[in-house]
Amino acid sequence: MKNATSPNLNVTMAGIQFRSPVGVAPIGAHWGKGIKDPEIYAEVNGEILLKHARAGAGYIYIAGAFLKEETIDKLHDRARPEGEHQFPPDGMSTRAIKTNTAVAPYGLEGMYFIPSPFWLSAEHEKGGVLAKEKLMKILKKKKPEDVPIIANTIGMGDLPDTWVDGAKRWEELGADLIEVNVSCPLPTTMRGAVNDFFQKSFPARFQGVLIGDNPDLVEEITRQVVKAVNIPVGVKISVETGFPRVVGLAERIRDAGAKFIHTFNSAVGIAPPNIYDRGKPLWPFMDGSPFCMASGSFLRIPCYRDVAAIARFVPGLDIAAAGGFVLPEHCVEAMMLGARLAQLCTGVIEQGRSLIKQSNSFIRKFMVEQGYQSVEEFIGLGQQYIKYNEDVDMMGGKVVAELDEEKCTKCGRCIDNICTALYSDKGKIKIRAERCAGCGGCMIACQSDAIKLVLRE
Ligand SMILES: Cc1cc2nc3c(=O)[nH]c(=O)nc-3n(C[C@H](O)[C@H](O)[C@H](O)COP(=O)(O)O)c2cc1C
Ligand code: SF4
Ligand code: SF4
Repeated sequence: MKNATSPNLNVTMAGIQFRSPVGVAPIGAHWGKGIKDPEIYAEVNGEILLKHARAGAGYIYIAGAFLKEETIDKLHDRARPEGEHQFPPDGMSTRAIKTNTAVAPYGLEGMYFIPSPFWLSAEHEKGGVLAKEKLMKILKKKKPEDVPIIANTIGMGDLPDTWVDGAKRWEELGADLIEVNVSCPLPTTMRGAVNDFFQKSFPARFQGVLIGDNPDLVEEITRQVVKAVNIPVGVKISVETGFPRVVGLAERIRDAGAKFIHTFNSAVGIAPPNIYDRGKPLWPFMDGSPFCMASGSFLRIPCYRDVAAIARFVPGLDIAAAGGFVLPEHCVEAMMLGARLAQLCTGVIEQGRSLIKQSNSFIRKFMVEQGYQSVEEFIGLGQQYIKYNEDVDMMGGKVVAELDEEKCTKCGRCIDNICTALYSDKGKIKIRAERCAGCGGCMIACQSDAIKLVLRE
């Protein structure tokens, strides 16, 4: 609970003020098979998003496309002959797989997810448009005033008009920021997608990361969206871009006029095979295993990498970060590397909305303890330590492992690996200091905190 002495969490991104950097990343609401009535869709999804806000989220994301009829006509002109599964008739099915089998210290393994197939029919689209308009109306009426709405808009094929249509409509409906989504992993699962990617040929369906890994297209789409609207525009990129390509892509995005970048969307994954069922994965009620989206704690390190790289090499672009945050501390870590927003997604699906509350309370407490008056004071603080390899003084040869015999339980774990300096002498752990490389591997091995690195005498 906030009290008179607890700091506020205000933060600015792309010129817009947010009451907290913590919120829930975009989760494409299920339009189609599950809910076909626009009214019900808007009501139930609105309630979910408002609950995020009531739990303390600093912003609300809505996701989706709006296609004008003439844009749909243009897409139809580009459609390929039959057999390519471009216009599946009947909306989406979605399916998740439960795989949180990883053990500490890795945390929850994450989530594999597949909506299928990719629709694009004018009829389906009409229903979706109505539903999203209604949803936006509910949000505008009921959300707290200091909670901005970010509209995450997808496009079709490589036709910039499809993103522009969405961005303009979201703006008219009252979005505060537009996020151009060119990063969904799911389109990679479609027949022919890999080949199309290499041929730079994009059929008239949702293309996600297949577009996002083409800097020319991303720049053009961004430029056109920026031109079309008067609110700040950002671009959500993919973990698949990787380092160092992310730096070049971010530069193109910034130069096209975007004010922020969102790094990043879920990875392209494949569900783990069930080794006790001859390799058939655990997807419930599915007879095959398409490449899918995968998210969760395993994304955190690449997320930190991209945040750090963009903050370091691409000045002038604000950063929203998502990818593998499953503890409140992760939000602060991402921000210290340069992010202005820290977004929870799989963490909330797995642990519930209390993760939003916990993260906000943690940040408040952390600020009091550490003496920060505002969130802005710790954003990017860790950047000063990011150096080129040659410029880091690693004190080579000057550090050595030291054992605390009182804490050592003699479990033997530290000598059962690759270390050439530790050994057991009648059950007691000993260190041949002259052989110690100072690598610190033993500190990781020891669960009793009995080994640390010290300066050599
Ligand atoms: C079920 C589900 C649906 C998602 N839908 C969208 C979406 O519609 N648009 C989008 O940009 N990202 C979407 N994402 C990606 C998340 O916003 C987020 O970028 C990604 O999951 C990484 O964060 P995490 O590891 O904390 O989940 C979705 C993720 C999940 C798990
Ligand atoms: S620091 Fe590395 S080399 Fe030295 S004792 Fe530990 S694991 Fe062995
Ligand atoms: S891992 Fe730690 S507790 Fe176990 S033997 Fe080595 S130093 Fe002792």
